[in-house]
Order: sequence, then C-alpha cells, then structure tokens
Amino acid sequence: MFFIFKVMKISIITIFPEIFDAFFKISLVARAIEKGLIEFNIVRFSDIVNVKQRIDEPTCGPGSGMILKPAVVQHAIEKCENQWGKGYKVFFSPQGKKLDQRVLKKLAIRLFSKTIDSNNEQIRKNECTSKNTHLILICPRYEGMDHRVEQYYADLIISIGDYVLMGGDIPAQVFLEGLLRYLPDVVGKKESVRQESFSSVFLDYPEYGLPVEWKNLKIPEIVLSGNHAQIDKWRKIQAAKKTIENRFDWFTKNFPSVEEIKVAKKFIPNHYVALMHTQVIVKNGMQGNTSIASLDIHDIARSSATYGIENYFVVTKLQDQKKILDTFLDFWLSNVGKKYNKTRFQAVSKVRSAMDFDDVLNQIRNKEKKEPLVIATSAKDYEQYINEETKIIDYFSQGKIFKRKRPVLIVLGTGQGLSESIIARCDYLLLPIKGMSEYNHLSVRSAAAIILDRWLGLNGELVDK
Ligand SMILES: C[S@@+](CC[C@H](N)C(=O)[O-])C[C@H]1O[C@@H](n2cnc3c(N)ncnc32)[C@H](O)[C@@H]1O
Repeated sequence: MFFIFKVMKISIITIFPEIFDAFFKISLVARAIEKGLIEFNIVRFSDIVNVKQRIDEPTCGPGSGMILKPAVVQHAIEKCENQWGKGYKVFFSPQGKKLDQRVLKKLAIRLFSKTIDSNNEQIRKNECTSKNTHLILICPRYEGMDHRVEQYYADLIISIGDYVLMGGDIPAQVFLEGLLRYLPDVVGKKESVRQESFSSVFLDYPEYGLPVEWKNLKIPEIVLSGNHAQIDKWRKIQAAKKTIENRFDWFTKNFPSVEEIKVAKKFIPNHYVALMHTQVIVKNGMQGNTSIASLDIHDIARSSATYGIENYFVVTKLQDQKKILDTFLDFWLSNVGKKYNKTRFQAVSKVRSAMDFDDVLNQIRNKEKKEPLVIATSAKDYEQYINEETKIIDYFSQGKIFKRKRPVLIVLGTGQGLSESIIARCDYLLLPIKGMSEYNHLSVRSAAAIILDRWLGLNGELVDK
C-alpha cells in the first residue's frame, strides 16, 4: 500500500547550528521548506548539558584530542526522537561508506519509495511509501565520535571523500543536497528530467549558454541547429567521450550494456599486445632470445580476445621458432582447426608473428596510419628504469592515454624481462603487478591476463556488498 508523501523531517545535531543558517535559508532547500516538503530542527550539543558541563572529554589512551561524550549524543538523539519519532540515523566520518550517486539513490528508495522514476530520476509522487520520514544527521567534530555511539546508533555512516574535514556539518549538507534531489517537487522538473552525471554509466554531456562565441570559443553548431534528434545523439556521444576520458573507472564498475560498450569504444583506441621472445634479458643478464611456448600463444590469444585486443604479436627473430609459430597458426587457422574448436580459432585469428620490436611498430603503423603509444611492462620495481623519457603509469590512468587518440601497444617480456633498450623506447612503463608476498614470478600469460583486466576489464561494483 502506498502513502502520499507528506513531509520529510530532518533533525540535525551539531556543535555549530550557524553553519546551517544559509543552507536552510536559500536555494531549492529553502523552497522545499516553503512548500512544506521538508521540515528541519537543529539541536545544539551544548543545549543538552547545563552551562557548566562540557560536551566533550579527552580521548582515552595516549595521544591528544577531544571526543564528544556518549551521553551527550544519546540525549541529543533522544530529544530529536521525542519530538518527531524514531529516526534513521546518519553519522559522518571519513571512515564511513563513500558517498556517491548510487548510495544516495539506494537510500532514497529505502527511505521513501520502492522505485525511482527512470524518466526524471525522482521518486514518483504517489509512490512514496513513508508518510513521515525522520532523518537524524549527527555531525561530530574534534576527533570524531566515540566508537560505541556509532556502533549502537548508526544506521549509516557516510564519508564524503578520502580526506579529513574539521567536522560533520559540511558532509551533512553535501549528503542532504544529494538526497533531497530524489524527492518529488524539491528540484523542479526542468532540471530533473535531464540525465545527470552518475545516474547512469555515462556522465552528463557538455552544456552551453549564450553568447555563441566567448573568448574565441564557440558553441558547437549542432547544439544551435534546432534539430533535437541530432542534438540528442550528439549529447549521448559527448557524454560517453567525457566518461571514457575522465572517469573510465565509473564506466567499468557500472555494468555497461552492449550498446553502451559500443558507444564507449568510439573513444577507446585500438589496443595491441606484443609478447617479446627477442630483445629480452636471458639467464646471463645479456640481451637474447627465448623459445616460444604454445601455452602462451593460446592463453594470451584468449585473454586478448576477451579484452578486445586488435592483434597479439608473438615476436621472434629465430627462424626455427618462427616455423613452430607458423605451424601452430596454420593448424588453428585452417578449416580443421576452425571445426575442431571455433572459439579457439576466433582467438588465434588475432595472433600475428613479428621479427622484432620495429616490425611490430611497423605493422601497427601500416594498419592504423598512426604512431602507436607504447606501454612497457616489467615485474621489477620501476625506480631502476626511471629516466627522462619513460613515464611511469598506473592502472587508473587509462583516460589520459585514450585522450591521445593513438593506438596503444602493451609490450610483455619473456625470460628475465624486456631489455632496457626496449623499455627506453616505450612511452610509458606500467607499475609492476604485486601481491602481498615476497614471491614475484608470475608466468607471462598470467601477468598478461592481469594487466589486460586491470587496464581494460569491466569490474562491476555492487553498491550494497
Ligand atoms: C577531524 S575529523 C575526525 C577524523 C578522524 N579522527 C579520522 O581520522 O578518521 C572530525 C569529524 O569531521 C567529520 N568529517 C571529516 N572528514 C570527513 C569526511 N571525509 N566525510 C565525512 N565526515 C567527515 C566527521 O564527522 C569527523 O568525525
């Protein structure tokens, strides 16, 4: 059974109520109060005790710092609940659950409704399930909250980011601004119908207002064309571009659909992998050659196919090794191989042979008509490679590379790794893969799978684990 949403009651417990003066007096929040959609009440911690009593005390154990007394928080919460009934209690701490749109949406559904209207990302007016939702926001300062108080009371502990502020008041405002947008009539239809950042796998599209030209920068013609279908199409593409270039992490963790992946791929350059059996360090520490291994060809081909790699180059300049590779490819790419295992055929059809590093670069140049950006990989600590040309890169910087709109080549070594001369010719060196042990000897096919997954993998994150 659905109730018509009446009013959301917000209790705020704080040391400094003044911080909320402007918050409740201006903008859409003030309008929501005027319209009777929300009511608020502020309880000052110091009003809970009499004038001579302190609300805080030193933290137990070594170290300086003050902490709010548990009884003071308790009485403040009781005061709020005596007035408006049992409340949903939110505490603020840098150690809490990181706030994002998905957390807000989930909470809005939990508190106010069963569904969100996908057209305007708000709760439907007649579907609010709560008649009187009472939200209690507790804003600590000093060293934070006595751990037992959070243990006992907190329905939710929210962090607004990985940094430490002086108190929970600004986090409470951030949280409220985000949450209130989900309530019907708080944000007017005009703003809310639009697709905002973080409400889907893509961020918002770029917005423009007049004048048409400002500081030599023009509004794209399409935006002024008046052709709504074309503008809509353009906006979707721009939104995908921004997301892939600026927040690839958001894209990969939000379960993109096949269609969304297709759009995203427009902004992800073609990727290539090279497995070097030549120009690598061998046992005596010298540059040399290693033997090819059929397991590496199979497994890296399959990983490459999974992560959408354009071609996987197996690089050897030894004629007898190349013959082995050719025999392997001849079988898997023949009708017999195709019939024997179709998916293996699919993976192996991306494998190419190359004589050396230059041959790989040439093959990519010929195909793409562009110079590839080359990323070297190594198991060793990167400090020993640092020179002026080679830049170290981590697995959170894909956008930076994608923006350069050049094909990307990831180079893997065999034996004891890529020779320094090859690393020196690469544009970037990826951080080594590390586990929490001293052991550091992954097979190259395992390393390839991990590298490709970290670099191009979809790693869905469920909001409530
Ligand atoms: C100085 S901080 C205490 C930090 C705490 N000792 C720690 O290191 O985790 C005081 C209060 O500010 C608020 N606060 C600071 N940073 C925050 C953040 N990133 N998100 C949410 N609340 C925060 C919390 O209410 C916190 O208890």
